[in-house]
Amino acid sequence: MPRVSELFFKTGVIFLLLGIAIGIKMGISGDHGAFPAHAHFNLLGWVTSAIFGGYYALNPAKAEKRLAMIHYGLYTLGLVVMLPPLYLKFATGNDAVDPILGIGSLIVAAGVLVFTVVVFSPAQSARSATMAAR
Ligand code: HEM
Ligand code: HEM
Repeated sequence: MPRVSELFFKTGVIFLLLGIAIGIKMGISGDHGAFPAHAHFNLLGWVTSAIFGGYYALNPAKAEKRLAMIHYGLYTLGLVVMLPPLYLKFATGNDAVDPILGIGSLIVAAGVLVFTVVVFSPAQSARSATMAAR
């Protein structure tokens, strides 16, 4: 598996464990107030990261591009900035974290923008395609 896929799965599964922990805490306490944090740890942190990792595993030529690692770095940084304050907001009702949440979600969006460029870019550069054809 390409390194970038391994990295997406390694960080993704940590977010899944945290998301599940929040789910179990909600189930045990009967207080479901933190469900938006639970949903985004699982869906942004695990599901979307795993889809990115799967995409690069299916497109190894794209996984070798520098842009793939920039995508991983930006997206994961965004999650680390966004998700803990999201949990704090809904677990404690403290809205003071909103600006950090905003910054985190913009970094996440920037990571997705880089992925969009990766998806629409050709798998091989014109030069390496010519070399491969020789
Ligand atoms: C052991 C694992 C899990 C537990 C104990 C758990 C528990 C919960 C609980 C208690 C709620 C709040 C329900 C409500 O009040 O409406 C919830 C909501 C939710 N969970 Fe989980 N969950 C688990 C795993 C997952 C996973 C793996 C995902 C996604 C991949 C997920 C996605 C969601 C979503 C999207 C919601 C919000 C649903 C809505 O909008 O009402 N959960 N979960
Ligand atoms: C930076 C990206 C994202 C931002 C800023 C964002 C923001 C939000 C907001 C503000 C809500 C309403 C929360 C509430 O008051 O209940 C919401 C709900 C929801 N979002 Fe996202 N979202 C993002 C990405 C995603 C992604 C990628 C998925 C799925 C793969 C997703 C799935 C959901 C679901 C299922 C709900 C309904 C459950 C809930 O309220 O938590 N979101 N999102």
